[in-house]
This record gives sequence, structure tokens and C-alpha cells, in this order.
Amino acid sequence: MYVDPQKHNAVRKLDIDTITKSNENINETAPSSDDNKKQEQQQETQTFNLDSMKERNDQMNVSESKDNPSGNGHGNEMIQKQNVLGRTTSGKYNLPDFQIMRTLGTGSFGRVHLVRSIHNGRFYALKVIKKNTVVRLKQIEHTNDERRMLSVVNHPFLVRMWGTFQDSEQIFMIMDYIEGGELFSLLRRSQKFPNPVAKFYAAEVCLALEYLHSLDIIYRDLKPENILLDKNGHIKITDFGFAKYVPDVTYTLCGTPDYIAPEVVSSKPYNKSVDWWSFGILIYEMLSGRTPFYDRSTIKTYENILSAPLTFPSYLHEDVQDLLNRLITRDLSKRLGNLQNGSEDVKNHAWFSEVIWDKLLARCIETPYEPPISQGQGDTSQFEKYPEEDINYGIKGDDPYADLFKDF
Ligand SMILES: Nc1ncnc2c1ncn2[C@@H]1O[C@H](COP(=O)(O)OP(=O)(O)O)[C@@H](O)[C@H]1O
Ligand SMILES: [Mg+2]
Repeated sequence: MYVDPQKHNAVRKLDIDTITKSNENINETAPSSDDNKKQEQQQETQTFNLDSMKERNDQMNVSESKDNPSGNGHGNEMIQKQNVLGRTTSGKYNLPDFQIMRTLGTGSFGRVHLVRSIHNGRFYALKVIKKNTVVRLKQIEHTNDERRMLSVVNHPFLVRMWGTFQDSEQIFMIMDYIEGGELFSLLRRSQKFPNPVAKFYAAEVCLALEYLHSLDIIYRDLKPENILLDKNGHIKITDFGFAKYVPDVTYTLCGTPDYIAPEVVSSKPYNKSVDWWSFGILIYEMLSGRTPFYDRSTIKTYENILSAPLTFPSYLHEDVQDLLNRLITRDLSKRLGNLQNGSEDVKNHAWFSEVIWDKLLARCIETPYEPPISQGQGDTSQFEKYPEEDINYGIKGDDPYADLFKDF
């Protein structure tokens, strides 16, 4: 049951076999060219027209203008409207706007590069996804949802996407470059986090989940690989590859085996509850260096998720044992976060008693760890090295999938 501390990311990528069988994841300056503002105004269309979302977004404190890669600002009114409808981002940026640099991470569908805007000289992260892989793995809807969900969200603990574009073979998403690396790498280096450190990261994640759920978005791929640290050591959740607007319930089996909730494994209809289960697994892994139901065999992992007892290393504080028992419970009518008071129950739990939530949201709580990086220099020292491939982006050829990714 022990997770090899040396285990590399790749071992814990999502379960491709499973998803192919089923059919259905502060560099705050935008990278654009001069036409962007105009185009953005012209292209605003109703891609995400949700009344419930409007009300909630109106309450959100959004500010974007100074951060645009071209330096183009836009008024608050425009920003609120974008949040309600989702931004249409195609055409704002294109490949020649960026100089492509090293790989920051690879995933199941493509890779993420460090890039530099040729307009403002700043660094961004460019996620590149191969269309034929998306089609082969039946992830068309998920990939379109990834763009849509990222274009809607605006929160201090979520990565910011500036725009998307495509060539005949790939789709591209341009995001802020989060310089401090993955929480995964820090955790593997540290083996375990002390109680207050785990609590700090968990509390920031809790606010991010609360925000997503308030928009009826479930995230579905919470794990340390998808949590990045910014230059000050605050979290930024990236990878909206499985995020989806779900006002009611959904069925798709997706996620990363160790972190998948039992209701997903057993193909029951599910909703936000699954993120609270994963939140429990995340806290467990941060405190103990391993996930509770891991097995080399994915099938056995699933069996454990469905029926193995939850046991704790004895050094876990009794408050957190209590919290984890209430999050990692198979009984949905008991799972914290999924009850009448939603995330409030989680925030009010004894383990979080010393957290001042307003200050945390305002990023006014000192972080436990500051990544040792030179800010704004494209420093990649906190990221693992990946073999580079020949880059053949920007090809203008036949595109058999042209109809599938029109929003990019
Ligand atoms: N905005 C970003 N800044 C820095 N690194 C990033 C960013 N987004 C992703 N990465 C890196 O790339 C990896 C893969 O990206 P991700 O979106 O998680 O792809 P996948 O869906 O394939 O898992 C991440 O785990 C992280 O290491
Ligand atoms: Mg990922």
C-alpha cells in the first residue's frame, strides 16, 4: 500500500484505459497583440449563459485590466459580462505571438511549454494538445469544457487562461506561468508536510473548490500534480481537463485512480461530492506522503476505494483524523462539503479552527514556503526536466477535426 516516494508524475496520470472505455483537469500580464481589445469585444458570444452563474459572479471581486499580455485593459463591466458568458478567446492570440521554450510538464494529451510573449517579453505557459489524441481517447467534450471552464473562472487560487488558438494538428491554451512548480514535487522532496503546512495548502484549495462549486463547476482531478505554487508560495490550481459545469449530476468515469471517489468507481450519478472526497485524499497524502487506497494494480486501488477501511498513521492529529473520516466517507449523506451547509462545514471543522478565511482569500496569510526562484525571469528550476520533442506547431494543412474544436 505504500506509494514509492520517488514515483514520478507519469505513474499517476489518469487512467487512459478507463477513460477510453467510458465515453464521455504571478505572472499576471496578458500576452496579446494590438487588435486584441477590439476583437475581444466583437467576439464576445454566449458560450456560457447561466443565470445562476451570473448572480454568483456578480458578487465576485474581479480585476483583470492591468494583467493583459498586451497591456490592453478592459472595464469592469466587460469583465463581469465575460464571467457570466465565458470568454470567446479564439483569434486573440496566435502561435507567432510567442517564442516556445522548454517543456514544463507532459500529460496524457500533450505538453505544457514555457513561452515568452514577443510583444511584452513576459513568460507564460502554453498547453499544447494534439487533436488526434483527443479524438482517439474520446476527450473532445472534455477538451472543449476545459477551455470553457478556464475562460469563466476568476479566482486567486486558480490559474488564469488568457486565450486559445489552434493549427491543423494542435490546440493551444495560453496561461500565466506559475513559477514555483508542482506541489507534487515539493511533497515528494519533503516526503510529508508538517501539520500547519498541509493545513495552509488545504485551506487555499478549500477556497478554490468552494468558488468552483458556487459556479456549479466540478473539478474532478484534484491531486498535487495539478496544484502549482506561485512565486510567493500560494497555490494555483491548473489543469481543467476534467472540469465541467454540472448543475445536476453526471456519470463519467474520469480522474486519477488514487483520488477517484467511490461513487465514480461504481458508476453512480455524482456531483460536487467527488471533489470533497479527493480533497480528503489530498490532505491525507500531504500529511503522510501516501494516498490511503493506493495499490500497484489499478483494479485493486478501485477495490480498496470501494471497501478497504480507512486507516491513519498514528502521528496524524486527532482533529485531522476526524476531518478525514468525514471527507473520505462512502456515505454521501455524511460527507462533509456535500451536506446542507456545503463548504462551510469544512471551513468550520476544528482542524481549520485557526484559519482566518477572509485573510487567506486576500492572500494576506504568510506562506509556509517561498519557492527559491528569480521572479519574472523564466526560471524553470522548480520543474522537472522532460525529454524535448521536435516542434512542428503551426502547420497549416488539412484538418479532419476542424469542426470539433471551433471555439479554440
Ligand atoms: N500555468 C502553468 N504554469 C506552469 N506549469 C504548468 C502550468 N500548467 C501546467 N503546468 C505543468 O504542466 C503539467 C501538465 O499540465 P496539465 O494541465 O496538468 O496537463 P494534463 O491534463 O496532461 O495533466 C502540470 O502538472 C504542471 O507541471
Ligand atoms: Mg494534470
